[in-house]
Amino acid sequence: MSLTADAPIVPAPERGLNQAGAVTDHVAAILRRGGADMSKLGVPDRRTDRSEVELWEDVAVPKARARRLAWERSVEDAAHQEYLGFRFFTGPLKLDANQKPNTLRNWVDSLLEAKRSGARPETLNMIIPGNIGTGKTAAAFAVGNEAVLRGIDTLVVKHSTYLTWRRPDSAPRNLRAWEVRKMFVTCDLLILDELCGEMDMTATEFARRETVDLIDARISAGRPTAYTTNLRSRRTQDHPGLGVVDILGERLLSRLESSAHVAKILGPDRRKPATPLDW
Ligand SMILES: Nc1ncnc2c1ncn2[C@@H]1O[C@H](COP(=O)(O)OP(=O)(O)OP(=O)(O)O)[C@@H](O)[C@H]1O
Ligand SMILES: [Mg+2]
Repeated sequence: MSLTADAPIVPAPERGLNQAGAVTDHVAAILRRGGADMSKLGVPDRRTDRSEVELWEDVAVPKARARRLAWERSVEDAAHQEYLGFRFFTGPLKLDANQKPNTLRNWVDSLLEAKRSGARPETLNMIIPGNIGTGKTAAAFAVGNEAVLRGIDTLVVKHSTYLTWRRPDSAPRNLRAWEVRKMFVTCDLLILDELCGEMDMTATEFARRETVDLIDARISAGRPTAYTTNLRSRRTQDHPGLGVVDILGERLLSRLESSAHVAKILGPDRRKPATPLDW
């Protein structure tokens, strides 16, 4: 005679047991800690303990601080602290209409949207060309300052400085040459100031290779970059000087341009004294 033969069949949960194969609260907590996506496992969010939710919200604060410090350190390395105050529309150092703040703001909005959805930004590159002293660097810094405030990990470097730092034992803070590349290739947004500045047709093979590598790596990874430059893209009869294409080559320039917006800055040289100095 079986002891269990006549026992009524009671489902496991009603006997205080778990259903076979069920994801219990305990297992769910372990999976969640391991980073599992609960929605993909078909487990509804049953967390009643607010402290766990609040913990993750709290992480946003130190993250924002780390983001701001990294940005400020790169600004300091570029010796451009005086540009930290630039904003699109507010504050004592705001852009003027020549510096296209609406276009730049819309671009930062689109980058944020892309970052949130994990998508590649539609307009990957912002090219800010213009004559000497028109306010390109200020406009690009406004992009960086505002992007950092809004949660985008941003760094800035002058193109010629990047090339110097890529040489052995030349970077600040004992950074190794490979760390310099990694830092500027992997940040969410890079402000590359004075693209192809201080270069001429005799730019070394090293300078060309390093420049192509940095830009190519960022485009391939779908990471946005804002460039400022005094140069034109190509030589014309009216502008026979060096063009960006002479350094980057036609293939990379067309890749860069194919996903770029141009915010050209017009206007006078802001640094020029009202009356020329006589010396
Ligand atoms: N909107 C603004 N309001 C007040 N000052 C500004 C503004 N934009 C730029 N400036 C000032 O004008 C000067 C020139 O600006 P900036 O350095 O941005 O020009 P640039 O085009 O990058 O020059 P360069 O061609 O030499 O790199 C700087 O001293 C900057 O602080
Ligand atoms: Mg500048």
